[in-house]
Amino acid sequence: MSDSVVTRLRASFFDFPALADQPDGLADQARYIEDGLLTLRDGKVVSLERWQPAHQHLESTQVIDLRGKLILPGFVDTHIHYPQTEMIGAFGEQLLEWLNQYTFPVESQYHCAAHAARMSAFFLQQLLANGTTTALVFGTVHPQSVDALFSAAEQLEMRLIAGKVMMDRHAPPELTETPAQSYQQTRELIQRWHQRGRLGYALTPRFAPTSSPQLLEKVQQLKNEFPDTWLHTHLSENQQEIAWVKTLFPAHDGYLDVYHQHQLTGKRSVFAHCLHLEDREWQCLHDTDSAMAFCPTSNLFLGSGLFNLKRRWQQRVRMGMGTDVGAGTTFNMLQTLGEAYKVGQLQQYKLSAAEAIYHATLGGAHALDLDDKIGNFNPGKEADFVVIDPAVSPLQQLRMANSDDIHQRLFVLMTLGDDRNIAQTWVNGKCVWQRESHTHAQGCCQATKLPG
Ligand code: GUN
Ligand code: ZN
Repeated sequence: MSDSVVTRLRASFFDFPALADQPDGLADQARYIEDGLLTLRDGKVVSLERWQPAHQHLESTQVIDLRGKLILPGFVDTHIHYPQTEMIGAFGEQLLEWLNQYTFPVESQYHCAAHAARMSAFFLQQLLANGTTTALVFGTVHPQSVDALFSAAEQLEMRLIAGKVMMDRHAPPELTETPAQSYQQTRELIQRWHQRGRLGYALTPRFAPTSSPQLLEKVQQLKNEFPDTWLHTHLSENQQEIAWVKTLFPAHDGYLDVYHQHQLTGKRSVFAHCLHLEDREWQCLHDTDSAMAFCPTSNLFLGSGLFNLKRRWQQRVRMGMGTDVGAGTTFNMLQTLGEAYKVGQLQQYKLSAAEAIYHATLGGAHALDLDDKIGNFNPGKEADFVVIDPAVSPLQQLRMANSDDIHQRLFVLMTLGDDRNIAQTWVNGKCVWQRESHTHAQGCCQATKLPG
């Protein structure tokens, strides 16, 4: 019988034990334990409880003392492009020009496996340095881009979903393929990576304009063959894009219908942006139990539009937060939530800190159909979490000192916080990042070996 590894951490904790179906009352549904004890065994949560005097018998060597820190479930990024890391912050263009001028040239470099490996390592370190433990990730059209990313994520034991871009028109020749090639290469990648350890595969047609009807038929065929893969694409981001889709697919009843008629809507389908949806499209997303990724920094940076959070709750469509790097301007989920708040303000919607943290954790896990595995500290959940230093600058310290409760403190964090506030990131029960060292810190934290 093998020994099992038990780890105990003492800190403050904040999470949501259950899914929510409306934003009012989310503050009451949150679980905040100011002085708590989290027990992990073999990478899973055993329990989260209040610290009690009876726990004193646990010798100091058996408890990692993080008093003063706040532990949240690891952030879930439901939409990001790893090959765009090196072009984040590209000046001056909106979506379609931005793709041609900046994105496609950068993605062309991923034919080189060595480049893909270097950038995969860098990308995953950025996620971890920002407290993100799960992401749904676009690769490029090159299978080697996805092989590199999955290999690196597997070593870190991250729960990561990714896929090779499928694209056969309206892009440079070096980034397009035939539908048959796209099918074959995607199929091989699914067989190599899907459900291997904590990894999952997402069929990734870039968006309707770069997909011929024949390519979409191949995506549909793959979804039929591998029904538990994810589907990850863009939808209704930019007005010019939407008008273009209508000319490219005149027989369809709007943008979403292009995907829907190919049976690409459904529980594991994630549509990034969804900014200019028509009424029937909201209804279709609800009826098919599809999910949306809300990417505020990208939507503001590209001038694409404002996501309608109020409508999202009314229509009961699953949704998570996305950074959408490199159209998005940060890997950091706290900053992303701060921008989401401003998107709400422009529409008279008050995004509370509790709601924001919900979307970035359990809500995101639900959007990815992973809420049975990650997203909170319920027993049996995989132990992915972020240790937050609530105040790392004189301004943050001053403002925190003038905050009355956890909700105000969380709101200050999402307004003033950034990667400096991420003290540690834990994946599968192990500390894989800690700020002091700025390095990959596998095994940095004490874990006590006890007989199983
Ligand atoms: N639509 C199609 N491709 C992209 C992309 O790479 N980024 C964004 N933001 N939108 C897209
Ligand atoms: Zn995107």
